[in-house]
Amino acid sequence: MPYQITINPSNHVFIAESGETVLQAALREGFALPYGCRNGACGTCKGKIIQGTVDFGSHNEDTLTEMEKRAGMALFCCATPLSDLVIESREIGAMKDIKIKTLPCRVHKLERVAPGVMIISLKLPASERLQFLPGQYIDILMKDGKRRSFSLANAPHDDELLQLHVRNYPGGTFAEHVFTRMKEKDILRFEGPLGTFFLHEDSDKPIIFVASGTGFAPVKSILEHAFYIRNIQGSERQMVLYWGNRTRADMYIPELPGLWQQEHENFTFIPVLSEALPGDDWNGRTGLVHAAVMQDFDSLAGYQVYACGAPGMVEAAHRDFTRHRGLPEEEFFSDAFTVSSGSTTGSFDTSGEPPEVGLQK
Ligand code: FES
Repeated sequence: MPYQITINPSNHVFIAESGETVLQAALREGFALPYGCRNGACGTCKGKIIQGTVDFGSHNEDTLTEMEKRAGMALFCCATPLSDLVIESREIGAMKDIKIKTLPCRVHKLERVAPGVMIISLKLPASERLQFLPGQYIDILMKDGKRRSFSLANAPHDDELLQLHVRNYPGGTFAEHVFTRMKEKDILRFEGPLGTFFLHEDSDKPIIFVASGTGFAPVKSILEHAFYIRNIQGSERQMVLYWGNRTRADMYIPELPGLWQQEHENFTFIPVLSEALPGDDWNGRTGLVHAAVMQDFDSLAGYQVYACGAPGMVEAAHRDFTRHRGLPEEEFFSDAFTVSSGSTTGSFDTSGEPPEVGLQK
């Protein structure tokens, strides 16, 4: 039977369905309670039951002791309500609330979705989960001590596997490794979550996403999160995605945003090709992706923009949207790139122009 749960001190209220743990129900309803392992071992989800009773579930006895239970403490990843509850827990509101971890992971699946793009699915050890905000990234830790940054492309609620979109570059050592030698079951290490590019949910302004190439990855995470929350909270925030690539072959998994457009009337997908080939048989938008936004909007004064991808595109979008379309400076969000000399491969591709040097966060 469903029970009502009230979180203190925020006074947020959600419903737990039969058999759901407090944490499962909170996450399903879009409330980010802190968690780590999700199996009663780490204690990150520990909080207080102020009113009501729970089944404490199976957990590590050292993580939640008998004395703590008597004092009203519970592990919300294991506890299922036996009545309506008032609980005390902090809620994750910003990245400062999320613990950065260094974790091993296993390559679960490699999918070559375009000639130059590989989707890697990573599996964490059974006792671990990664809490992150949609749009954040992880650093893959290489044996030589270097790091490669990749955005997480899955949404936080869908955290069984972590998904990365990797672009191949000539001379990119990690990308080359991914495309030539990496195998399923390989072990990697990473640090994360990192970054400040995430969805700001405290606004109801319509959003324009501008992505180039594999800059689509964090946008996918943000959009899947937004659709998930919308189903629960009924938000009608309008969202449009402009996704720029050079050719049709570079636009990997276009059917996914196409499907979102069919399923969500508050979402529009506008694919843009900068160098469509005769064989692409392309009737859609052409040119630079940020220029397509400029053509479609006389004013961006009432919008938020999230831009991710090639540094040149992000810079041009920032400059032109704020100077020529009235976008308030504080409503432009982008992933911060720096260009590092050498042959490193960075997190995102540049669908517009090939980098002469690697890109790194
Ligand atoms: S999340 Fe680790 S004990 Fe609950």
